[in-house]
Amino acid sequence: MTGDPDSRPILLAGPPGKSDPSGREHIVVATRATPAAASNRSSPLRSRIGWPPLDAVGPDETRLDQQECIPVLWNMAAIFTQDLHCEPQLLLSEDCAPRTRRLSSMHRLLRFLTTLPARVRKRLQIRRLTRRLTASTGFYFTADYVSPWEDTWEHLMEAYKGHPGVQILEIGSYEGRSTVWFLTNVVTHPTARITCIDPFWHMGQRLIFDHNIAVSGGSNRTSTIVGTSADVLHTLPEQSFDIVYVDGSHRAADVLLDALTSWRILKRGGILLFDDYGWHPEKPLSTRPRLAIDLFLETFGGEYDLLLKDYQVAVRKR
Ligand SMILES: C[S@@+](CC[C@H](N)C(=O)[O-])C[C@H]1O[C@@H](n2cnc3c(N)ncnc32)[C@H](O)[C@@H]1O
Repeated sequence: MTGDPDSRPILLAGPPGKSDPSGREHIVVATRATPAAASNRSSPLRSRIGWPPLDAVGPDETRLDQQECIPVLWNMAAIFTQDLHCEPQLLLSEDCAPRTRRLSSMHRLLRFLTTLPARVRKRLQIRRLTRRLTASTGFYFTADYVSPWEDTWEHLMEAYKGHPGVQILEIGSYEGRSTVWFLTNVVTHPTARITCIDPFWHMGQRLIFDHNIAVSGGSNRTSTIVGTSADVLHTLPEQSFDIVYVDGSHRAADVLLDALTSWRILKRGGILLFDDYGWHPEKPLSTRPRLAIDLFLETFGGEYDLLLKDYQVAVRKR
């Protein structure tokens, strides 16, 4: 797990019961900002991710003492940031005892040493991948989520094929498999564009994405925005896209936000397409898109025509 140091989440920890009225640990996971912003109770950064550890920590029996604190916090950080695919940074609040701070430095050193081999391995992998991509003139994909949908998409997007000025937004591009499909099947006119939003947490992913877009010949019709949809979508102009493809985070809360913000930027008559409506039905509801998509469909009933409801869902905005 690595990531741009400036976008790493912060795990901020303070002494038990210090600032939470329930008397439980003061723990918060937030996207990187100043420690002050992360610790500010009303910070939008924090409230976006919430207080997941509070529920998980539970009441008295899991109250930590400060010596136990560090490894447990790291485990929590790993759990609550695993979907972010980057390493959290542990910050201890001012109130933490000096002993805890000493532990923290030792912990950092230990961590540095134990993760060194993995980081070296990763660097070598990236070097190998770069060489491989440079030598290749064809597409390079490690996964294909698109082929099963090609016929359906052709039919859904028929009216937009080759049209001048068509604007597509893609949330979650990964290695560019779906981007390439849009570029070769819909966004083919020189004035048409696809905008891709993805945090590209893994360096290899971005290298592969750029390679595939270049191979497709569509680089000049592609705008890439590195970031999460939550950070980017609200900055885009209202009613500016003909098609929005939602295929980013799978968490219900994120998909709900994607649906709501995408609806605002979708033109009337435009198509909102969700992937993964049927993703892993055995997983908890909050960890998959279905609940959010159902809520969206229910809430906006009467404002769309349902075009598709299968493993994917598509609606046309009235
Ligand atoms: C299933 S993959 C997308 C696959 C791609 N559309 C394709 O068909 O090849 C999901 C992608 O969403 C990205 N992602 C995860 N959370 C995101 C978020 N909050 N905002 C935007 N993208 C996100 C991940 O980095 C990953 O690349």
